[in-house]
Amino acid sequence: MSKISLKNLTKKYGSVTAVNGINLDVIEGEFLTLLGPSGCGKTTTLRMIAGLEEPTSGELYSDKKVLFSKEKGVYVPPEMRNLGFMFQSYALWPHMNVTRNITLGLESKKIPSSEIKNRVNDVLNKVQLNGYEDRYPSELSGGQQQRVALARMVAAKSDIFLMDEPLSNLDAMLRIDMRSELKHLHNELGATTVYVTHDQVEALTLSDRIVVMNNGKIQQCDTPEAIYKKPQNLFIAKFVGSPPINLMKGIIVKEDNSLFFKNEAIKLELKGVTAPETENSEIIAAVRAEDIAVSPSSSEKQSEAFNVYSVLPAGSETIITLQRGDTELAVKLSGFSSTKMNDSISIKIRPEKISFFNPKTEELIL
Ligand SMILES: Nc1ncnc2c1ncn2[C@@H]1O[C@H](COP(=O)(O)OP(=O)(O)OP(=O)(O)O)[C@@H](O)[C@H]1O
Ligand SMILES: [Mg+2]
Repeated sequence: MSKISLKNLTKKYGSVTAVNGINLDVIEGEFLTLLGPSGCGKTTTLRMIAGLEEPTSGELYSDKKVLFSKEKGVYVPPEMRNLGFMFQSYALWPHMNVTRNITLGLESKKIPSSEIKNRVNDVLNKVQLNGYEDRYPSELSGGQQQRVALARMVAAKSDIFLMDEPLSNLDAMLRIDMRSELKHLHNELGATTVYVTHDQVEALTLSDRIVVMNNGKIQQCDTPEAIYKKPQNLFIAKFVGSPPINLMKGIIVKEDNSLFFKNEAIKLELKGVTAPETENSEIIAAVRAEDIAVSPSSSEKQSEAFNVYSVLPAGSETIITLQRGDTELAVKLSGFSSTKMNDSISIKIRPEKISFFNPKTEELIL
């Protein structure tokens, strides 16, 4: 069942169209992430759901109830939407201790004090901050402050959580900690969550579904696995994944009843896959770094020899950059590799691991 529905929602600021006719159903209980580059309209979309920004046109529903409709003249204010927010600047009150920061919003809702006390206990337990009740924000680490902000949102018992880059102020280690915290909490509470980030790893790790946005429009809405493995256009393919997906220009040719993808550096038989109907015209093949295998140049016939341009070991994995003519490929190997700079090596790619894109429309062909 859909918890929040956006129907053709648009927001214009003068001549700038920040969000351009978005249709989206957020399913009850899911963790949905809006992912995209700076300026693509993520925050604007979230603020429209929150009621902090009035859409220019379109409709917004929650539980089939109209929250906004230009045509029907409906605009439900934020405080009537039963939403919890958490933003990048987590804005704890500096002159109030942890308990006060959490309870302030509850008192204004006229919740009895015994109930408030229980909730504070409960949420501090959940974010593992018992014992910190009397501390002031300045006496907490960034991650702890962020957990107080999380506790404050949880304590309000909203059934929808809206979060805008809540982890972006934290250093890398804390961010990983907090991801785990958020995921655990979501699993426990099951609140419908709309989360905004421009960090593709964060989106992949946290989400049930990811909405990739660009220029105010939805590019694809799918599970993390589908977004990663079957990006519907080149923008998504390039935006998600690290190192970035390898792109190779080439053509499809038929030789001896077999189809090949071919360019100056590679000739790859497309065995067992339905090849695109674009024989002899230019095509873009995309393959992830972890889907390329390497071997000493003499043993493989799939490609000409590539030169090893760089070898970048990072402990659990090694990224190798290969070059031949204009073709450059990143290969991800697990652990450390015996490959050396300037080695000459061949590559092997399983055809089913390749996605083909139309170079003009940039849309997925296969
Ligand atoms: N109040 C405003 N007045 C005018 N233009 C605005 C306003 N708010 C946002 N915009 C514009 O709308 C577009 C979308 O902005 P938005 O803040 O939604 O992007 P975003 O995806 O959240 O980006 P970021 O990752 O940088 O936070 C941008 O081009 C931005 O400049
Ligand atoms: Mg933003």
